[in-house]
Amino acid sequence: MDAIDAVLTDISDDKIDILSYQQFPIPPELQTQLRNASSDMNIHESSKLDSELGELFALAVNDLLKTSDVPLNKILAIGCHGQTVLHLPETEFPRTLQLGDPNIIAARTKITTVSDFRRADMAAGGQGAPLAPLFHDWKFRTSEKNRIVLNLGGMANITVLPANKDEVVTGCDTGPGNALMDLWIQHHLHVDYDENGIWALKGEVDHGLLDCFLSDDYFKATPPKSTGKDDFNIEWINKNLKSHGQDLSPEDVQATLLELTVITVSDAIEKYAPNTNEILVCGGGIYNIALFNKLKDQNKNRELNSTEIYGVHPDAVEAVTFAWLAYRRIENKTGNIPSVTGAKYPVILGGVYATS
Ligand SMILES: Nc1ncnc2c1ncn2[C@@H]1O[C@H](COP(=O)(O)OP(=O)(O)O)[C@@H](O)[C@H]1O
Ligand SMILES: [Mg+2]
Repeated sequence: MDAIDAVLTDISDDKIDILSYQQFPIPPELQTQLRNASSDMNIHESSKLDSELGELFALAVNDLLKTSDVPLNKILAIGCHGQTVLHLPETEFPRTLQLGDPNIIAARTKITTVSDFRRADMAAGGQGAPLAPLFHDWKFRTSEKNRIVLNLGGMANITVLPANKDEVVTGCDTGPGNALMDLWIQHHLHVDYDENGIWALKGEVDHGLLDCFLSDDYFKATPPKSTGKDDFNIEWINKNLKSHGQDLSPEDVQATLLELTVITVSDAIEKYAPNTNEILVCGGGIYNIALFNKLKDQNKNRELNSTEIYGVHPDAVEAVTFAWLAYRRIENKTGNIPSVTGAKYPVILGGVYATS
């Protein structure tokens, strides 16, 4: 919900080149609507957002192409993840919803569009998430060391890439990444996020509150697991503040939310991949210097690097992933890893929306 990430890639079976990457703003009014969208959003609102985002995503693609010298007939497909507004994999009727009508994108760009990546995995009994691990496996795995890819987006997720090719790739959402810190600072200071983590550094971690946060069942659950703002939201923060029962400054709460991300990520690594030698970080949280430094402190025996050093800008990893998954879809190749999502079998991900 912070921005639209658009990337133009040149993909073949064994190689990917990033030709251009651009972030496009989401108009503030739409951003507010998206942030307020909750599982009880009515169907008029959700269908309007679906259409509005479709138009906006199409504009982003057309703008990106204007600044490149790649002709339209060279573009195989658009992979559009869409904006997640609901993700409930553990309910009686598991469901997940990403908005941004692919019919509109295909019509406005005249490019075949692949979208709705998550639901085939969910229909096969999986969480529908995380889906980045197959790409991480293809792009970042090495036989030289045990690596993890850590994506610090709104939520945080890890992909475990064992050096030993005989071991399966695993991974999960570890819990909140930046989302709760964003919500908290938006509420108190009316800015989008805590630039470099400066505001959090003004506060002190409150261990009582941290324990309340950590008592959430999500952190105890074993993978496969995935999460989103249906689980972690402003009500979740307020509920924990209430049960903690002490008055804290907003800065102390921010510091504690930052600590929560550090601890839950580091605990998950310790639990599921204790032999990790290197953590490759991507996602916007990499710019939160306070967060990055604390993660470094918690993982002293491991290298912490940006995905940039292996050729993918940390902001672009997710967009590149869905370009690559669209390529897989067009090639009729599967896109999930059952040992990650919990699906009963590998499936081809995404619907294809052709142009006329
Ligand atoms: N300079 C910065 N300082 C602190 N946090 C930042 C900075 N730049 C980006 N972020 C964080 O990164 C988030 C965006 O990360 P992103 O990977 O795009 O998440 P998502 O995949 O959920 O869209 C912002 O909401 C913000 O919390
Ligand atoms: Mg983003």
